[in-house]
This record gives sequence, C-alpha cells and structure tokens, in this order.
Amino acid sequence: MYRLLEFEKIGDERGWLTPVESYSDIPFLIKRIYFIHGTGEDIKRGMHAHKNLEQVIICLAGSCTLFLDNGFQNEEILLVDNNKGVYLKDLVWRELYNFSRNCILLVLASDHYYEGDYIRDYNSFKELVLKEDY
Ligand code: TYD
Repeated sequence: MYRLLEFEKIGDERGWLTPVESYSDIPFLIKRIYFIHGTGEDIKRGMHAHKNLEQVIICLAGSCTLFLDNGFQNEEILLVDNNKGVYLKDLVWRELYNFSRNCILLVLASDHYYEGDYIRDYNSFKELVLKEDY
C-alpha cells in the first residue's frame, strides 16, 4: 500500500539539512513538487486516488494524519517527522486530516499535474480496484 522512506538528517551547530534526490532517496524522477499549508484543523483534503502517479508525501512542519485505503485494507499514518516520506505508487485512496495549524506538507510527484489521472469518486475507485485484482 505504501513504503516509508527515511531521509538523511545532517545536523551541526547551524541546524539541520535533509537532502532528497531522485532515484537515490526516492524511487522516481521528480517532475513536480507542491506544498500544502494553511489548512484548518477541521478540514479534510485529498479524497482521491491516482491511476498512474508516484508520490512521496513529507510533513515539513507540524503534523497531520494520512489515511490510506487500497480497497481491501486501510491504515492511518501520523505524519510528523520531516526526515520521513510516505511513498505511494499503486492505486490507493488517500485522505488527509487532523492538520495542526503550522502543518506544511511537501509532495514530490513523478509527473506533471493532470486531472485525468485522478479518481475523485470512492465508488469508482472501488470498482477499479476490484477490476485490477482479477
Ligand atoms: P486538489 O487536488 O483538490 O488538492 P488535494 O487533493 O491535495 O486537497 O487540488 C486543489 C487545486 O489545485 C485544484 O484546482 C487542482 C489544483 N492543482 C494544480 O493546479 N496543480 C497541482 O499539482 C495540484 C496537486 C493541484
């Protein structure tokens, strides 16, 4: 459903630095990044799956909860460490909630934004998952 990636944390008296490189730290070439911030505590984001997209979600500051559902099982992951990333590859429904006020999420993606890659209806997602399982 997902893979947890751990990045290097280089620290000295000036603070911390975490490098993230395509192919070595994450398994794909980064073609797009976006970040999410200023999300209210009672807001739910995501609520979609991707047909053909690899992503790594990193919580740079604050915290939030990532809910993942592959159609057969689901899991809640607390995003709170900025040297960890959740790698998503397959057909997985994702939701984000419980945002702390200072939460900043960084998302690395393997492709440019393309609305046609989104499945935004949960029932359509379930149908596709069942079809792919055969
Ligand atoms: P949306 O998919 O609703 O964000 P999330 O699912 O993470 O809560 O995206 C919000 C808006 O931003 C929507 O109009 C699409 C647009 N958007 C882009 O233009 N480029 C992007 O890379 C992404 C992720 C979204």
